[in-house]
Amino acid sequence: MMQRWSRKRSHFPLAAFVLLVFIACSILYNESSIQHIHEHSDHVSRKPETTAAYIKPNLPTHSTRAPEFLDRFVSCNSTRVYIGKKIRLVDPKLKLDRRREGLESCDVFSGKWVFDNISYPLYNESDCPYMSDQLACHKHGRPDLGYQYWRWQPHNCNLKRWNVTEMWEKLRGKRLMFVGDSLNRGQWISMVCLLQSVIPADKRSMSPNAPLTIFRAEEYNATVEFLWAPLLVDSNSDDPVNHRLNERIIRPDSVLKHSSKWEHADILVFNTYLWWRQGPVKLLWSDEENGACEELDGLGAMELAMESWADWVASNSNSHEKQVFFVTMSPTHLWSREWEPGSEGNCYSEKSPIAREGYWGSGSDLPTMHMVEKILSRLGSKVSVLNITQLSEYRKDGHPSIYRKFWETLSTKQLSDPKTYSDCIHWCLPGVPDGWNELLFHFL
Ligand SMILES: *[C@@H]1O[C@H](CO)[C@@H](O)[C@H](O)[C@H]1NC(C)=O
Ligand SMILES: *[C@@H]1O[C@H](CO)[C@@H](O)[C@H](O)[C@H]1NC(C)=O
Ligand SMILES: *[C@@H]1O[C@H](CO)[C@@H](O)[C@H](O)[C@H]1NC(C)=O
Ligand SMILES: *[C@@H]1O[C@H](CO)[C@@H](O)[C@H](O)[C@H]1NC(C)=O
Ligand SMILES: *[C@@H]1O[C@H](CO)[C@@H](O)[C@H](O)[C@H]1NC(C)=O
Ligand SMILES: *[C@@H]1O[C@H](CO)[C@@H](O)[C@H](O)[C@H]1NC(C)=O
Ligand SMILES: *[C@@H]1O[C@H](CO)[C@@H](O)[C@H](O)[C@H]1NC(C)=O
Repeated sequence: MMQRWSRKRSHFPLAAFVLLVFIACSILYNESSIQHIHEHSDHVSRKPETTAAYIKPNLPTHSTRAPEFLDRFVSCNSTRVYIGKKIRLVDPKLKLDRRREGLESCDVFSGKWVFDNISYPLYNESDCPYMSDQLACHKHGRPDLGYQYWRWQPHNCNLKRWNVTEMWEKLRGKRLMFVGDSLNRGQWISMVCLLQSVIPADKRSMSPNAPLTIFRAEEYNATVEFLWAPLLVDSNSDDPVNHRLNERIIRPDSVLKHSSKWEHADILVFNTYLWWRQGPVKLLWSDEENGACEELDGLGAMELAMESWADWVASNSNSHEKQVFFVTMSPTHLWSREWEPGSEGNCYSEKSPIAREGYWGSGSDLPTMHMVEKILSRLGSKVSVLNITQLSEYRKDGHPSIYRKFWETLSTKQLSDPKTYSDCIHWCLPGVPDGWNELLFHFL
């Protein structure tokens, strides 16, 4: 969709678009080794589903010829069009298991942003030693700080007030793990910044950046962790530093590589979205012995991956022991004409939220949302949804734009036109992801 947009509205510089995609995929990791990002066409069609076979996902491979897990060096021997294999549906009995009822009489995701410079921000950017240079907008020169002062106010009720002591008590003896892409990583950093201030420096620690990065607080015997798994299923993009972007290969029927790392967490917070926006995706099924891949559009591939993930959740999480959250798509603000018709920019120099209730831009793909909703509803009470899409849609002012560290050297031409290299995908901290974490706190 992002690409189709760029083709249709060709007056938007292609370079800027490519840069945005680059930022989308690369933030927080040093990507300077990746030189080329190729434009893919996203027109791979799906065959009629007459030949559909159902695959039971998340089975260990017993084949000696298929690799146990994919890594970044995996390649396809050949590629053909997707023939319609499906992931076996989650146990239909689950449908009877209704979502937690009664707890919430009010939709906390429907509301508005209220200016509140008394209680916000919940922490200072410079006081958080774990802050990321890609999200520290003030440090990187952002002059207006209004984006830090907004509080999410649901229409018909109040959110539980953030209380760091209470949060630590909830986490005592537990592992809280965020699993997903760079947006989810931003939410993890926000959580660490929200939590760390009350822990003495010699009683907390952060492990080195790795696929699994762990913040530990001794006195609570608790950890707040981040697992890099941008596509949830096994893929060739699972190395946080060196991911391959020009040929994305996934194992659509297995999350086992990642689930071995996340299975012992007590509270899991998943997301996935942006990495599927750049199709097509190559599928290498677990039972494929000759390295033959199939090719499918991003949405179709994401659906297969979500089904495999849902299968894991359905069969491994007992909601009394484990709490599972899914964070819906984080919107982008790439085209200011969507909220201000006639303008030519993006999120750069935006200073306040969108006030129009129900605003929905092209950065939040509705077919993706419907697919996600269908799969999550089948999981019933085994998963809680953090539906952050609409509330974040309002926050065109919350992105770093040019106020972050960029790994690549910017040309004079780019520098002379800031909107061409603005990051309108991720979020400044303190900022919007703190709100997502207040919602998480509300539901814990
Ligand atoms: C990123 O890579 C560049 C070039 O390889 C190197 O100069 C730089 O120090 C790296 N930065 C980090 C944070 O690893
Ligand atoms: C909060 O905002 C109001 C209105 O913009 C301003 O008058 C006041 O000085 C601000 N207070 C603080 C503590 O920043
Ligand atoms: C942030 O810093 C200001 C000034 O240094 C201070 O008044 C304020 O209390 C700090 N806020 C938090 C949440 O620590
Ligand atoms: C925060 O939670 C702790 C522990 O539950 C409680 O003792 C304290 O009063 C709370 N603080 C506020 C400001 O509500
Ligand atoms: C710390 O928490 C882990 C679970 O995360 C638990 O297995 C262990 O027994 C706890 N240790 C103490 C000293 O409470
Ligand atoms: C690719 O196909 C050839 C011939 O079918 C086979 O010998 C080889 O093992 C395959 N490669 C992989 C990675 O499966
Ligand atoms: C999230 O909320 C939007 C309305 O803002 C709704 O259309 C969508 O279906 C919800 N998504 C999920 C997964 O519940």
